[in-house]
Amino acid sequence: MNSKIWLSSPHMGGNEQKYIDEAFAENWVAPLGPNVNGFEEDLERFLGHNTKIAALSAGTAALHLALVQCGVGYGDEVICQSMTFSASANPIAYCGATPVFVDSEPETWNMCPAGLRQAIGERIQKGKKPKAIIVVHLYGMPAKMDGIISIANEFEIDVIEDAAEALGSTYKGQPCGTFGRFGILSFNGNKIITTSGGGALVCHTEEDKEKTVFLSTQSRDNAPHYQHSEIGFNYRMSNIVAGIGRGQMEVLNSRVEARRKMHDFYVELFKEIEGVQVFSEPTSDFYSNHWLSSIVVNPQIAGKTREELRIAFLSDNIESRPLWKPMHLQPVFEDAPFYGGNTSEKLFNDGLCLPSGSNLQEDEKDRIEAVIRNFFRK
Ligand SMILES: Cc1ncc(COP(=O)(O)O)c(C=O)c1O
Repeated sequence: MNSKIWLSSPHMGGNEQKYIDEAFAENWVAPLGPNVNGFEEDLERFLGHNTKIAALSAGTAALHLALVQCGVGYGDEVICQSMTFSASANPIAYCGATPVFVDSEPETWNMCPAGLRQAIGERIQKGKKPKAIIVVHLYGMPAKMDGIISIANEFEIDVIEDAAEALGSTYKGQPCGTFGRFGILSFNGNKIITTSGGGALVCHTEEDKEKTVFLSTQSRDNAPHYQHSEIGFNYRMSNIVAGIGRGQMEVLNSRVEARRKMHDFYVELFKEIEGVQVFSEPTSDFYSNHWLSSIVVNPQIAGKTREELRIAFLSDNIESRPLWKPMHLQPVFEDAPFYGGNTSEKLFNDGLCLPSGSNLQEDEKDRIEAVIRNFFRK
């Protein structure tokens, strides 16, 4: 059996162990310390735009704390992009609130501004103004932020950007994750850089950052004993994990470059294959890190389905995966309101994520190419 080719696997830069060894040498084996501070500073420098970063245990935790700080509580409604991973929507339920899902538009596969406007209008008519908007930059592709932000401003609703997959992407030159009141990042094992598991909340004021750190360390009041006036969380990033993050930040730019080259590889490969569209930036306003390269297979034109291609990959021990199944089609969210048409549903039916790691070797790319050429030749 051939060795496994993963969709996206961890790719260490080399200095991660050095930062971990320093933490051990100084006994900073705790959810605070020089690596946590250093990692936050690295991210602030990378994102610019006066960002203040709080390093946390997961991107999901970051979303939860963003919602808490937007005042989301029991019985509230939060608008959320439907086409995404469940982690974008689950924290809404943690708050006892209801997600209101909005469909994608076909160019970026992200939240459709027209659908957002319709959803806000109808929810207000029904007597409930949404408390926040969660927009996602799917697979690294920036959402149409001009439209989203201007609608959010018009209705005075906070925007939370789920940039878990989009570190290194920009929209009109501005980094994804820096547009909303809050942005979230993920450093899970499959992301463009990883800390094995971890996340961050992107804030814009020292006050929001301090509040995030306070909430993430069990909301301890300023007293010699343990005193609490608010419900707290145990969501702070460990200093060991942050050491991996510092090493990874040294190689982030080269990781973005490598992922973008993988996208180019697929564009070239599918150039002559009819009925397959490689997910690409609609205009030069959008700069994707191409975290996962993805395609849409039109079975009428290609004469094949994405599922048949997935199985062909599998038989050569190559991982590929259908696009995210939209949240409004998930059994767990079947009662949640949904605004839009069938764009995300169609993407789910015909779309496939392809191996996209920054560490794929030439012989692995050869194997991927051979499967694709063979599959579409038949
Ligand atoms: C779009 C999206 N949002 C949120 C998350 C959650 O991040 P984490 O796994 O760090 O909790 C992920 C990834 O896992 C994701 O892909």
